[in-house]
Amino acid sequence: MQGIIIAGGFGTRFRPLTYTRPKPLMPILNRPLLEYQVALLKAHGVDEIVFATNYMAEAIENHFGDGSRFGVKMRYAREEQPLGTAGAIRNAAASLWRREAVVVFNGDVVTDFDLSAIIAQHRQRGARATIALKAVPSPNPYGVIDLDADGRVLAWREPTEEQKKALAANPNIEQTGWDYINAGFYVLEPEVIESIPEGRIVSIEREIYPRMIEHGEGLYGVPAEGYWVDVAGPSHYWRVTNDILRGRTKVAPPGTPQAEGLWCMKGAEVRATLDAGATVHVGENAIVEEGVHLRGTVVIGAGCHIARGSVLEDCVLLEGVRIEEGADLTRVICDRDVVISAGCRIVDAVIAAGTCIRRESRLGTNW
Ligand code: GDD
Ligand code: MG
Repeated sequence: MQGIIIAGGFGTRFRPLTYTRPKPLMPILNRPLLEYQVALLKAHGVDEIVFATNYMAEAIENHFGDGSRFGVKMRYAREEQPLGTAGAIRNAAASLWRREAVVVFNGDVVTDFDLSAIIAQHRQRGARATIALKAVPSPNPYGVIDLDADGRVLAWREPTEEQKKALAANPNIEQTGWDYINAGFYVLEPEVIESIPEGRIVSIEREIYPRMIEHGEGLYGVPAEGYWVDVAGPSHYWRVTNDILRGRTKVAPPGTPQAEGLWCMKGAEVRATLDAGATVHVGENAIVEEGVHLRGTVVIGAGCHIARGSVLEDCVLLEGVRIEEGADLTRVICDRDVVISAGCRIVDAVIAAGTCIRRESRLGTNW
């Protein structure tokens, strides 16, 4: 089956990390977010994928190439200017292999949904479009959907971008109930895609689906069971990292378990012992010397070097990071090729790619 992944967003909430890569390539446990989607799609028979790209399109093309490394045929539909969610799908459809139903994924979702079951429901009903739904507490920054008893979509309430920002900025809002929300996975018949106007910005959530509801054009929803996260910003990033590493989802981390709480990829060398309760993921060829303390959830990227006497608590290090002797980091994300010199103490920080922090520096609060 054919699929489209819409992966052109700017990932502004992930800056500075998205200055060096598009959000869909953010490594989650040493594996780019999109690879989790590709693996899930492939497991459910989707083996031809078009990526709808815009921001840092070439990084996605360079990473996946023709897809042969992943056992999936891949093509790319680059937008000169972002075309919106429906515009991106319309543009990508020109690169599909055949005229038939396609599945569409928002490129920032990590899930273990049974996609085959959703596709089967779509076919059984003879639907024009089917949307996977997730039940989440309200209020929330997602597209909220009402269904009738037959699963037909009756109403769609997409918050404005301002409302989404306000909700995201205030995660402690009191829960008032539950909503079915658009989980960002669709099955679309070709005529739905062909009905999207060409050559301008079009939103599928604000324009195409509302039109289908108004005209009774066969738009259905399927409540899905399972794990689901929209990796919108750093707090979701921490959640998904922890959930996968601690086995709270069927989504599996790459690599192999080495010891209680420790996952390693090829060539990783961990000579340190983990503190009680720690879970650690170590990328290819990374070295963790003896006498390093690893606490909470720690992700160490490919080719990193962590020198003795240093302490990492709830940290993510992307590729090629060097932590020198006696450095102490709590709740820190280091982008690739960062150097933290000996004796530094850093709390609550995101360090941009290639930064070198001098010896004995103090950064952040509460230390
Ligand atoms: N190619 C391309 N071009 N991709 C785009 C564009 C575009 O113009 N605009 C957005 N995207 C991609 C983003 O990269 C992301 O993967 C996906 O479309 C969704 O965009 P977000 O900006 O993350 O939207 P959202 O999370 O606020 O809302 C959407 O997802 C929710 C579920 O995660 C909506 O579809 C909601 O209805 C839904 O509930
Ligand atoms: Mg999103």
